Amino acid sequence: MDELPERISLREVGPRDGLQNEDPVPTDAKVALVDRLSGTGVERIEAVSFVSPKAIPQMADADEVWRRVRKAAGIRYSALVPNLRGAQRALGAGFTELEAVVSASQTHNRKNVRRSTEESLDDIAVIIEAAHAAGATCQVIVSTAWGCPYEGDVPPQRVVRVAGRAVADGADSISFGDTTGMATPGRVRRLVGEFRSAYPDVPLNLHFHNTRGTGLANVLAALEMGVDDFDASVGGLGGCPYAPGATGNIATEELVHMAEDMGVGTGIDLEAMIGAAAEAERIVGRTLPSQVLRAGPRTRTIPA
Ligand code: COA
Ligand code: ZN
Repeated sequence: MDELPERISLREVGPRDGLQNEDPVPTDAKVALVDRLSGTGVERIEAVSFVSPKAIPQMADADEVWRRVRKAAGIRYSALVPNLRGAQRALGAGFTELEAVVSASQTHNRKNVRRSTEESLDDIAVIIEAAHAAGATCQVIVSTAWGCPYEGDVPPQRVVRVAGRAVADGADSISFGDTTGMATPGRVRRLVGEFRSAYPDVPLNLHFHNTRGTGLANVLAALEMGVDDFDASVGGLGGCPYAPGATGNIATEELVHMAEDMGVGTGIDLEAMIGAAAEAERIVGRTLPSQVLRAGPRTRTIPA
């Protein structure tokens, strides 16, 4: 096996990607979840998105959630934005890390933000400029990077071209989103390989959903290629409004459990993250898909 990174950086996306796809929960619960996550050792939390409340009612209280969250020292909080208006709201609220989003698939982009991919890329150039002018960074998330529920496979060349446009416009990093869980390890190797050979120095984050059970296998394939930055959601919270049957992100505690056992550090306290997953389950009032939440870590023994 190839050498794995000694350490990876995880971004917890449950409060945004997770909760936007669950039935709406009270503001108090959102604040409590972010605060709970801030105590797990995770370094980065995607706290909210600043989107149209008509598009995503679950994020209508983003300003209030962010105002009330305890900003823990040493944690980097970020916000997702779909347009310049969202970027201005995020910067006005004090965020210094923005994520702008565009789908590699034309149809998904239209469903998600009502623009063509090219129009979104034009908007994103302006968002990046606004972020930088305010002293903030901007990551560009290329979603449906491994396929689209409407168009099927999206060619890696197209995905890299979309990312390349964002890089040319000043994106600080790129994230590839497997929005509806269509990636498999071979496809991960292909896309990461193509991106790496075109843009060897651009920081890369990968965002997998576990819709078809390949989430952690995809992470392992990426780890073997040296990728050291992943998204995950506590408990495996979430789904996707535009993809029937889509499940949440890979579960943070499952990724931590696997990585740490392979000598790949995450900085996260596994038991604390499992506790946060139990809290997330209480908040949404349904059983979450995380297996490590059910079974506990492999080293947790029971009385004989
Ligand atoms: N925050 C709050 N409100 C916003 C907004 C933002 N960032 N952007 C637009 N709006 C409001 C407008 O003020 C307008 O409100 P009104 O009808 O009361 O006047 C309404 O939303 C429509 O605005 P418009 O600019 O015409 O946008 P649109 O209808 O073409 O929708 C988006 C485009 C991008 C705003 C919308 O599709 C969206 O928010 N999508 C986000 C989807 C998402 O989060 N997906 C998951 C993450 S990838
Ligand atoms: Zn997602």
